[in-house]
Amino acid sequence: MFITLEGIEGSGKTTQLQKIVAFLEGRGYECVTSREPGGTAIGAQIRAVLLNPANKEMDAGTELLLYVADRVQHIRTFIEPHLAAGRVVLCDRFFDATLVYQGYARGLDRTLIAELHRLVCGNLKPDVTLLFDLEPRVGLSRAWQAINSGGRSRQETRFEQEKLAFHQKVRDGYLDLARLEPHRFRVIDASGDIQEITRTVEKTLGALLPAKR
Ligand code: TMP
Repeated sequence: MFITLEGIEGSGKTTQLQKIVAFLEGRGYECVTSREPGGTAIGAQIRAVLLNPANKEMDAGTELLLYVADRVQHIRTFIEPHLAAGRVVLCDRFFDATLVYQGYARGLDRTLIAELHRLVCGNLKPDVTLLFDLEPRVGLSRAWQAINSGGRSRQETRFEQEKLAFHQKVRDGYLDLARLEPHRFRVIDASGDIQEITRTVEKTLGALLPAKR
């Protein structure tokens, strides 16, 4: 089973990821976690380039190709082998993020992005995608709190530095994708407190992954 977590900056998806692992392991599932960009050793180098706020002049096309490069390496060397071994793979962001950030928000052609993905990465799709939805103003303020308190690296803030309007497009894009694929997406209200969100996530995943023990 392949589960992805998506959402705007500061939506709390990374915090929920570890809680999901504990929940699913308690139900008898073997889990592995990862993230994009940066889920492999090569991907970590690509991530550093993509998120470095000094790289302001990066063209949207360069950005797109770097995300695709990160992803194909991740799929071939991490995701597919773990899925083949029968594990639950939980990934913090995947292809939907490219459609939303590079498509809806940067304005690149979404059909072309999807075609590029199919050509390079193939047909792998998440079984379930949890979309942590909240107001960009709230998400951004949470993200900057984490950065200013040292909880997140300043070296990875290229997207946090984008204007609110950019993040609004990201949010709207995600909600649009969720409307287009209601069977895959589960939209989680991420505006509440952490425990409340965890309860909602566990209810959602509990219905899909019955306890094995
Ligand atoms: P994160 O690891 O903190 O979520 O940061 C990853 C950043 O990269 C985030 O701002 C979203 C952005 N991103 C894209 O623009 N396109 C993509 O395909 C992915 C996976 C992430």
